[in-house]
Amino acid sequence: TFEPLVFSGVQPTGNLHLGNYLGAIRRWVALQESNNCIYCVVDQHAITQALSVWGGPAELMRNTREVTAAFLASGIDAKKHIVFNQSRVHQHAELAWIFNCVARMGWLNRMTQFKDKAGKDRENASVGLFTYPNLMAADILAYRATHVPVGEDQKQHLELTRDIAQKFNTDFSDRIAELGLGVETQSGDETIASFFPLTEPVIGGPAARVMSLRDGTKKMSKSDPSDLSRINLIDDADTISKKIRKAKTDSEPLPSDVEGLKERPEADNLVGIYAALIDSDKESVIRDFGGQQFSVFKPALADLAVEKLSPIAAEMRRISADSGFVDSILKDGGERASVLAEKTLRNVRDIMGF
Ligand code: ADP
Ligand code: NA
Repeated sequence: TFEPLVFSGVQPTGNLHLGNYLGAIRRWVALQESNNCIYCVVDQHAITQALSVWGGPAELMRNTREVTAAFLASGIDAKKHIVFNQSRVHQHAELAWIFNCVARMGWLNRMTQFKDKAGKDRENASVGLFTYPNLMAADILAYRATHVPVGEDQKQHLELTRDIAQKFNTDFSDRIAELGLGVETQSGDETIASFFPLTEPVIGGPAARVMSLRDGTKKMSKSDPSDLSRINLIDDADTISKKIRKAKTDSEPLPSDVEGLKERPEADNLVGIYAALIDSDKESVIRDFGGQQFSVFKPALADLAVEKLSPIAAEMRRISADSGFVDSILKDGGERASVLAEKTLRNVRDIMGF
């Protein structure tokens, strides 16, 4: 069987927000207690969007350092685990090319995130935005990672990663066996030899999909033009409180059980955020606040969010002030990641006949 290994990443595209924190980074911190983990600032993904969105070289470097500082400030241990930025390890791009030739057009045509991000002007989207999920598969499989903690929006990309791994394993099974590179895995009742694991997404908890504070039908996102729609990790206490106070809701009090949140996306979202911040579930929040008005619940949520997020923001500022320190973390992590990725790529080249 494959050694358990956790991999995940965040794009350095600015406006790191509560959804990124609760849906991803905070859960990475929990996983590092009992797993080997690799956490990556995926800077080559950032450039799939328009130049006006990723902002050019200076902005990319600034955002890369900021995301790294957020990882460290949230409690990621860069000594015990690996923290680096993607572009330092060229093996990701090399493997992505191979995966461009493994993945089928039809598979990528089904990706809903491409449709969302490309919008109506699809002719003008970068080719990289279309093939982005292949690079993401390469990020993960360059380390033969078994588990990827992500928000719910990434579920489809993880399924594609498994499809790519599966097709590679099957297409080259004879060669993998001949070179003795297969790892025994269970496939139904059969034991087969695979080169790549079928990576499991680790999705869940009350904040797997944090919604916009202005529109309960849209996810909280870095690219939402309304700053009131999201809580940024670097927001100060007053800004956090203001945004929660202004969050869109209906006018009913909170329901007396979680079933009552079903048709109320805004209430459900705020309760989910509260639950994630206290590391619990929606049931326990409803036990405490069921029947209460938002005029009571919102200030409690604001206080809680400030209590949990302010120390992280302060630590991010402290860490960011020393860009030499952040760069040294990325350089060290990049060197350690390169050794692991090159080991995989050497095998992949042998399997492919390069
Ligand atoms: P974004 O989607 O904000 O541009 P990324 O694509 O860099 O950010 O995603 C980084 C991580 O944050 C991914 O694991 C993603 O699933 C997670 N994530 C992003 N938005 C949300 C959200 N609104 N709720 C929960 N998780 C999210
Ligand atoms: Na995303």
